[in-house]
Amino acid sequence: MIVLGIETSCDETAAAVVTDAREIRADVVLSQLDDHTPYGGVVPEIAARAHLEHLDGLIRRAMAEAGIGFGDLDAVAATGGPGLIGGVIVGVMTAKAIAAARGLPFVAVNHLEGHALTARLTDDVAFPYLLLLVSGGHCQLLVVEGVGRYRRLGTTIDDAVGEAFDKTAKLLGLGYPGGPLVEKAAARATDAGRDPGRFDLPRPLVGRPGCDFSFSGLKTAVRRHVEELAKASGGPLSDADRDDLAAAFQATVAEVMADRCARAIRRFKEEHPQGGALVVAGGVAANRTLRARLATLAAKEGMPFVAPPLRLCTDNAAMIAWAGIERFRLGESDPLSFAPRPRWPLDPTAAPVIGRAGVGSGVKA
Ligand code: KG4
Ligand code: ZN
Repeated sequence: MIVLGIETSCDETAAAVVTDAREIRADVVLSQLDDHTPYGGVVPEIAARAHLEHLDGLIRRAMAEAGIGFGDLDAVAATGGPGLIGGVIVGVMTAKAIAAARGLPFVAVNHLEGHALTARLTDDVAFPYLLLLVSGGHCQLLVVEGVGRYRRLGTTIDDAVGEAFDKTAKLLGLGYPGGPLVEKAAARATDAGRDPGRFDLPRPLVGRPGCDFSFSGLKTAVRRHVEELAKASGGPLSDADRDDLAAAFQATVAEVMADRCARAIRRFKEEHPQGGALVVAGGVAANRTLRARLATLAAKEGMPFVAPPLRLCTDNAAMIAWAGIERFRLGESDPLSFAPRPRWPLDPTAAPVIGRAGVGSGVKA
C-alpha cells in the first residue's frame, strides 16, 4: 500500500510518500520560519497563504523522489485538524482534489494521531504504550490502546510545554522558534562548565498526585530572574546569564516531565500488567536533555523507551501518511464532505481542565 501524506496545520508545509511496509519513500518539509520570524511567532494568515503557494510544488517533489505517479497511490491522507484552520483547509482541499480526480480514498488524519503513531512507523511499537505528547500546543500523557483509541491520563492546566519553551526564549531574547534556541543556549552553558544549579526554579506540581502539568509559574520565575539581573547590572542580560537561565529552565522542564511520567507509568502498569513502551512524540521530543531524562526513567522502570528520530518529532507529512495507512488498513476513510476541524481532541471523553481556556483546542497542534 502506498499513501501520499499532506501536512499544513501550522508553519511547516510538508508532503510525504509512505508504504505499509513502514518505508518512507519521500519526506519533504518546507519550513516557513523566515516568513514568521519578523513577527516573533506564527501568523495564521501568512501561514495559510504560504501553504497555498508551496504545497503543489512539494507534492510534485515528493512524488518524483518516491519515483511514482498518482496512479500508483492507494490513498491520500491529509491533516484534517487540529490546527490553524486556513492552513488545514489548504491541505484538505488539495488532498480531496487529488482523491476526486484519481478516484482514490481520502483519509483525514488527526495531527495529534500522526505524532502519536510515529513510533509505530519508526520502531514498530506494539499497543498498548504510554505516550508523552509534547508540542507547541499540547502537553499530554496518553495511554495508546489502538488506532483511534486514546485515554488521557494528564494534560497541562496552563501552557503547553513547547509554548513555555517559546515564551522563555522570547524572555531571554533568544528569538523564535524557542525550543531549539533554548536547547543551544543551555548546551553553551554546559560546554562552558558552568554550574547548572545556579538558578533555582520552581517545579510546578512535582510530587503532587495526578499526571497533569503546569508551566506558567516556571515561565514567570524566569521572567523575575531576568528582571532582577537587568536591575542589578543596569544593562541587558549577559550571554552567560542568558545561557545559564536557559539551562536551568530546560533542566527543570525535564525534571517535571520525569516526575509526571513516573506517576503515569504507575497507572499504566496497574492497568496493563503485561507492560508496554514509554514513547515520546511531538516537537519538544526533539530535545536531547528531555530524551536522555526519559530514557533513564524508562530504564529504571524496566520499560522500552522509544523516541523517533529528530526530524520525525517536529511536524512532517510522513507521520500523516503513516496514520492514514493505519486507519485505511482498518477499513476507515473519510467522505469528500469532511469539514476541517480547528479542534479535535484525541480523547474526547477526557474532562476539560479548569484554568485553561480552550484546552485541547490546539491553536498550534
Ligand atoms: O510538533 P511541533 O513541530 O508543532 C506543533 O504541532 O506544535 O512542535 C513545535 C514545538 C515548538 O514549540 C518548538 O519550540 C518545540 O516544539 N521544539 C523544541 C525543540 N524543537 C522544537 N522544544 C525543545 N527543544 C527542542 N529541540
Ligand atoms: Zn505537531
